[in-house]
Amino acid sequence: MKKIRALAILIMFLMIFPSSCLAVKDELPSLKDIYEEYFPIGTAVSVASWANPKTLYTHDSLIEKHFNSLTVENAMKPDYLQPREGHFNFRQGNEVVDFAESKNMLVRGHTLVWHAQTADWFFKDNEGRRIDEKEEITESDRQLVIGRMEAHIERVVSEYKGRIYAWDVVNEAISDSPNVIYRQDSPWYKILGEDFIKLAFIKAHEVDPDAKLFYNDYGAVNPNKRDRIIKMLEGLIAEGVPVHGIGIQGHWSVEGPSFEDIERAIQMYADLGLEIHITELDVGMKGYTEEEQAQYYREIFKIFKKYSDVITNVTFWGMTDNTSWRADVDPLLFDKNQEPKPAFWAIVNTDNPWYVNKAECIGALAFRNSAGKELVTLLPGKYTLNDINSVFSLEEVARLELQKGYVAIFHESEDFTGDTYTYISTDEFDGLDMLNKVKGVNIKHVEFNNILLGKTAEANVAADRAERAIDGNSNSSWSPNAQAPYWLTVDLEETHLINRWVVKLHGTGPLAGANPDGPFNAADYKLQVSTDGVNWYDIDTVTGNTASFTDRNIKSTEARYVRLYVTRPTSLDFNQKLVVYEFEVYGIPLTNIF
Ligand code: G3I
Repeated sequence: MKKIRALAILIMFLMIFPSSCLAVKDELPSLKDIYEEYFPIGTAVSVASWANPKTLYTHDSLIEKHFNSLTVENAMKPDYLQPREGHFNFRQGNEVVDFAESKNMLVRGHTLVWHAQTADWFFKDNEGRRIDEKEEITESDRQLVIGRMEAHIERVVSEYKGRIYAWDVVNEAISDSPNVIYRQDSPWYKILGEDFIKLAFIKAHEVDPDAKLFYNDYGAVNPNKRDRIIKMLEGLIAEGVPVHGIGIQGHWSVEGPSFEDIERAIQMYADLGLEIHITELDVGMKGYTEEEQAQYYREIFKIFKKYSDVITNVTFWGMTDNTSWRADVDPLLFDKNQEPKPAFWAIVNTDNPWYVNKAECIGALAFRNSAGKELVTLLPGKYTLNDINSVFSLEEVARLELQKGYVAIFHESEDFTGDTYTYISTDEFDGLDMLNKVKGVNIKHVEFNNILLGKTAEANVAADRAERAIDGNSNSSWSPNAQAPYWLTVDLEETHLINRWVVKLHGTGPLAGANPDGPFNAADYKLQVSTDGVNWYDIDTVTGNTASFTDRNIKSTEARYVRLYVTRPTSLDFNQKLVVYEFEVYGIPLTNIF
């Protein structure tokens, strides 16, 4: 671990936190409380007899803590509620509605009319032949199917009248193909044409005039499908059909849809005068990090909040990744242990990055014993070691762990003056050894940015173009072509604490088509630092590299000057040409830390 002995720092105020401020894990913030003034926060729960696990029971505390709206994931679909004509099974649905009522939660009904999860008998004639497969469909066939659809709606909606506040009346009726509006493979459409949609809404409204009636679909923010959905909705509205809202399912991924498409769709649906429910939200993270997923969730919740006058429910399609229908892409807020992921923290307060929300809620600096057990986690702020010692014995401490985005400044004197030891999140701590020397700790949030932007660069070769490597423009490069080694130095103008460096090489540029790997990428190079621009120290060394893009975290290090030092400019031995599109070093001026 790199230890920083900084200049003596005068701390003006001494704040001693009592031990009651030390965070404990069961004080997670509640999503439904956080979003109370915006919209209910819902989740889909599984209760079907075949479901394993039945999350209504295995995840009941999580449900109760964070959600105030429930949707039944499968057990209110037509095949479940009416597997045979006239035989209704409300048992599992009732379990959810009873649970919701006992906890003062809303229930969304999902779903009355759908091409999937609907038993065959709905579409068979009296001779047992599939009507939708007939060459000629008669009027009596049509009336038979309309009758069944209306009878199903009648029975189900009246069963839950006054208990289910919003119904997905028709699910996924619009085509994914740009050539046609309606989904062609739906037996409802094949038999009844588009009329089945309005008939379903009219019937549901007749049975429960107080229920909010929704059209629900996936791909609903994709501009093409959105326009087809809007065309259909405009037709219904023009005919006076009682449709009250659009359900945007929200089975998305970190890659998209884009925030622009989401916002535009919300505006356009709102312009129809409809309420919007986000009905089945989950954001897959395949190929991405939890942090990137958190960032996507943060951005979409900013949009949802902005339009909370029209968005009147946001429901997640499940709670934990392992129980999700998309378990392969870990799309939800909680992990398999029901612990919150960065995505959860991201939406706790969309003004901050996820890690700041987490640190402010459950602490930024954890003290662990030799078995890895958490002794205590401190919220950001200043503490004397005496305070901490009053909660547990410091002698037990073997490891310390810092939340990303925070520094811990340990002071040798109890009034937070004198020499300091500074640690940042990428560090490993040596625990007791250091704690024996200090009397206080100040835990602070700091943002590390690319500190080379706007600075001056010097180089031993192609010096006139050196600044192209630090200009923030990935299309301009510093490209020396002589005898290695090559170096490029940047004067940071004051001492910084640095913790990460990035090099974008030949392959990232426009000429190489942004190839992730390639033989023209620098093979051996290192990051060096200096306090005087004369004596250099190696901080991190890369050898045998073939990647175009390297992004490396380093232990916290003090630097006044930084140097990219390249000894083997490409992975082809005969080639001396080096191409650096960007060189970035992330840090913060030391003066900003204290
Ligand atoms: O029906 C059988 C049952 O007999 C059997 O015992 C059981 C054993 O696992 O499987 C049952 O099939 C299940 C099926 O739902 C019911 O037909 C599958 O396992 C199950 O994985 C399946 O998936 C559901 C899916 O809808 C079916 O279309 C998901 O759990 C559910 O999350 C998903 O939800 C849909 C929304 O309703 C509409 N929007 C899209 C969303 C995702 O597909």
